[in-house]
Amino acid sequence: MKKIMLVFGTRPEAIKMCPLVLELKSRPEEFDVRVCVTGQHRQMLHAVLEAFGVTPDFDLDLMAPGQTLFHITEKVLSGMKEILEKERPDVLLVHGDTTTTFAAGLAGFYSGVEVGHVEAGLRTYNVHSPFPEEFNRQAVDIFTKYSFAPTETSAGNLIREGKDPKTVYVTGNTAIDALKTTVRENYTHPELEKAAGRRVILITAHRRENLGEPMKNCFRAIKRVMAEHPDLYAIYPIHMNPLVRAAADEVFAGEERIRLIEPLDVLDFHNFMARSHLILTDSGGIQEEAPSLGKPVLVMRDTTERPEGVAAGTLKLVGTEEETIYEAFTKLLTDEAEYEKMSRASNPYGDGTASRQIADILAR
Ligand code: UD1
Ligand code: UDP
Repeated sequence: MKKIMLVFGTRPEAIKMCPLVLELKSRPEEFDVRVCVTGQHRQMLHAVLEAFGVTPDFDLDLMAPGQTLFHITEKVLSGMKEILEKERPDVLLVHGDTTTTFAAGLAGFYSGVEVGHVEAGLRTYNVHSPFPEEFNRQAVDIFTKYSFAPTETSAGNLIREGKDPKTVYVTGNTAIDALKTTVRENYTHPELEKAAGRRVILITAHRRENLGEPMKNCFRAIKRVMAEHPDLYAIYPIHMNPLVRAAADEVFAGEERIRLIEPLDVLDFHNFMARSHLILTDSGGIQEEAPSLGKPVLVMRDTTERPEGVAAGTLKLVGTEEETIYEAFTKLLTDEAEYEKMSRASNPYGDGTASRQIADILAR
């Protein structure tokens, strides 16, 4: 029997770790499972836990309005120290590249606990983009014992950096495990009904390095395109960061066909993606989910750690300059061949069995 502790703190980590929690818990002869949440996010995290029916054993409940990287790091490091001293798991699993990932992994390393990294090996090799995520994921990969890479490309990055190939496993991304359970043919929602007869544009944004002018540039470009195409209806489930909300309120105030709504539950969001015409985002997770749904994504960032989605044709990097986004968005709406090229479904991030594969490896 192996004692496995999973730790996560934000919405995307929860969406991608809950399928693994459920898989490990379904094998009680093999695994003694502990779930620890840091509470880096509060409402957006708990909505996911509820959707998957996962109850944490520990909650550091650290979120503070307008929190800094210092605050998150300090609270996670000291909170995890106590929990790890008490629980002494055989393996501590962290996910992805948030500050929770980095600080919880570091706590495991300091405590002499073996750390496994789920969604390991993603890289832009630009430590400022995304900030601080590129640092977080590279830093934990220095001390992790097991690397669960979603693709051959991410595994290749780790091996080139000197990881022992025997400790690097290509499993696909658990994001796709979640997606397999959420998208439904007969799904309806009042917001989608309001959009009836129009092309739905889905928007999200939250990256720290885009806060302020870059994010407003993105919003201004979207607003101009929306004004020129009356058959569009934009839905923007807005991140709870007050700085994001202020920027969106400022640029989109009074726009009737740009609906600013509260964050959607994961089941709803996946179905909104499946019904959308195209997506504009700076999110990481959405870049993984969109290819398997065949939904074109304009990625409002200068770099991406998801080159597989670009190679598949679904993702296009458009930066954060107003004019560039305006042109790319307009082209995708008006050039059928371009739209067709980007809307072919593909599965670069696996077949939805990543959690089972990771559990099998941990059992061995
Ligand atoms: C964090 C991660 C980022 C990840 C993103 C996913 C870091 C540094 N950033 O960024 O990698 O892509 O989550 O969304 O780890 N807030 C709430 N309620 C919530 C969640 C957030 O009110 O449920 C507000 C709080 O005021 C909080 C602020 O949003 O202080 C920012 O949250 P934070 O986790 O620091 O940054 P994110 O931009 O969410
Ligand atoms: N998502 C959600 N509700 C929303 C917006 C996004 O459930 O209103 C999901 C989305 O499907 C993806 C994840 O949240 O799985 C992405 O999270 P986010 O963009 O916050 O973080 P990132 O992936 O950039 O780290």
